[in-house]
Amino acid sequence: MADTNQTHSSSADASVTIRPARNLRGFLRLPGDKSISHRYGMFAGLAQGTSRLHNYSTGADCASTLGVMQALGAKVTRTSDGVIEVEGVGGKLLAPVAPLDCGNSGSTMRMMAGILAGQPFASELFGDESLSARPMARVIKPLAEMGAKITAAAGNRPPLKLAGCTPGEKLHGIEYTTPVASAQVKSCVLFAGLFAEGETTVVEATPTRDHSEVALRAFGMELRRSSGRAGNRVTLRGGQTLRAIEAAVPGDISTAAFFLCAAAIFPESQLSIAGLLMNPTRAKLFDHLMALGLRVRVTQMEESHGELIGTVQVEGGTLRGGLIAGADAAALIDEIPVLAAIAPYTTEGIEFRDARELRVKESDRIKSIVANLRAMGAEVEEREDGLRVPGRQKLHGTDLDSFDDHRIAMAFAVAALRAEGETTIHRADAARISFPEFFSTMEELLER
Ligand code: S3P
Repeated sequence: MADTNQTHSSSADASVTIRPARNLRGFLRLPGDKSISHRYGMFAGLAQGTSRLHNYSTGADCASTLGVMQALGAKVTRTSDGVIEVEGVGGKLLAPVAPLDCGNSGSTMRMMAGILAGQPFASELFGDESLSARPMARVIKPLAEMGAKITAAAGNRPPLKLAGCTPGEKLHGIEYTTPVASAQVKSCVLFAGLFAEGETTVVEATPTRDHSEVALRAFGMELRRSSGRAGNRVTLRGGQTLRAIEAAVPGDISTAAFFLCAAAIFPESQLSIAGLLMNPTRAKLFDHLMALGLRVRVTQMEESHGELIGTVQVEGGTLRGGLIAGADAAALIDEIPVLAAIAPYTTEGIEFRDARELRVKESDRIKSIVANLRAMGAEVEEREDGLRVPGRQKLHGTDLDSFDDHRIAMAFAVAALRAEGETTIHRADAARISFPEFFSTMEELLER
């Protein structure tokens, strides 16, 4: 990778030019998982006492969550050794004096909507241009069923306005079956349930990441979980108090995916990542990387606050191909952009089905992936709910756009490593949303 042009600037053309590489080797430890950082940030802000969060995500999204919690009365400080200290409000949030800025973060907006719905004050959540185009009906519907007064702009898009509860009024617990596989929606309903009367249950047919359930228990909440033919059920009772914790956030597995896929495209590669999140609802990635042909070894597994952490060692080989569909597509929704970006380098190609949700992420990711693969000379078939990328293709370097989407910027930086000639990714500074250090970290691992 070369010529990092103002990757930290917010200018419209913060481009990065990437030179092809010969191999990838090295050792990594990554900043904390984005999903877990959001939840720890929110619960620490709500809790009684001061939480100490080590290895909190360095991404802008998780900073948005801390900013929102601060505006609601939590005291957030960063110690000299990089630990985030959060003095919680002990369950009593302060009424915000201005609308709450969620930046680019759908997780912040949807989960905070749950926390704010049952508060005794009004609030408003807004976001940037990309977030302002994302669907919110999925959280408005269950929250309204619980008695929340919540409105949105045309088409159920942000900003979200929550009227709050009047004195004597409370939300009521419901049983809600999520119509789309979404951990954000599940979490939103459960978090609203924290401030509701009675019990709140969420049922999901397709399992999604369970960090909310795990983190709620870590902060001292009691909840019941079961899984059966009708899907996963989680139940919690309102009115419980969260208690502060000291915790280290496990390394971000979705960020690791970019480095693992970069290792996968070089037959001689060797990469080791320590302290990585191994939660089974996220670790499907390893099954698919192994099925593709990557050799994967996991060692030093341990548990911390209910989350599994391990060291992963991978070695490249021949990349075969595969199918990602059904529940796997939901489990790998954040990893599909980079898997699609390396699919041309496989022998049999990769097909992605049941991944319609990609269309309502930070960009329409199916469109973004297809546009960039075609710009690099690849053949690709676009489908309503996914795409099919044939194997044994050669890509050439060219000018690409990130579509202001962090995962697209990083995915195509990986594809560019085996392309012929240089690739320039425009608006590459989108990577700051989840991993601002991406380009320099990758550079250190590459051999040319
Ligand atoms: C997330 C859930 C997923 C994922 C997002 C983070 C979470 O979104 O794509 O990056 O932390 O709960 P959906 O809930 O919309 O599937």
